[in-house]
Amino acid sequence: MRIVGVAALAAACSRQAAPYTPGLGEIMTLTQMRHAKLWLAGDAGNWPLASYELDELKEGFDDVVAFHPTHKDAPLPLSELIPKMMDAPLKDLGEAVAAKDRDRFAGAFDDLTKGCNGCHQATNFGFNVVTRPKNNPYANQSFQSPQ
Ligand code: HEC
Repeated sequence: MRIVGVAALAAACSRQAAPYTPGLGEIMTLTQMRHAKLWLAGDAGNWPLASYELDELKEGFDDVVAFHPTHKDAPLPLSELIPKMMDAPLKDLGEAVAAKDRDRFAGAFDDLTKGCNGCHQATNFGFNVVTRPKNNPYANQSFQSPQ
């Protein structure tokens, strides 16, 4: 009886697809989107949305550490570079958002962007340069505060 149960379970498992692991390029493409949306939200003074995008960015970096601790072309482990380069700017941004301070937000956002590019250089992807968004590519989302 017990053996039959185990066999049935094994058969059920073998029919399931392997768990999906996002590629680093995929996580980075989402990171690029969050980075743009974070700017658009903070620039509009929409602090709840900025806070949300900041959390999503952090989750993306947690996924890099969990799923891609190393990269074949990078001389240093990504799991070391992320805390070293991102923790300070992410913390500053969190404080600027909590204080609803646009000037501080703008400075902290530029520091974050420097961190992104610093890590691209450290991983031999220095040709990949991110900047403050020059316009809003998301015509189907409002970045203004609804209140
Ligand atoms: C751990 C260091 C690291 C940090 C921090 C980092 N990146 Fe990356 N990024 C990479 C690596 C490595 C690649 C190349 C990934 C690959 O092999 O596909 C990459 C690729 C990219 C790409 C190219 C994706 C594509 O397919 O076109 C974009 C855009 C990008 N990153 C944006 C960002 C932004 C925005 C930030 C900061 C908010 C950031 N990255 C922070 C390491 C980092």
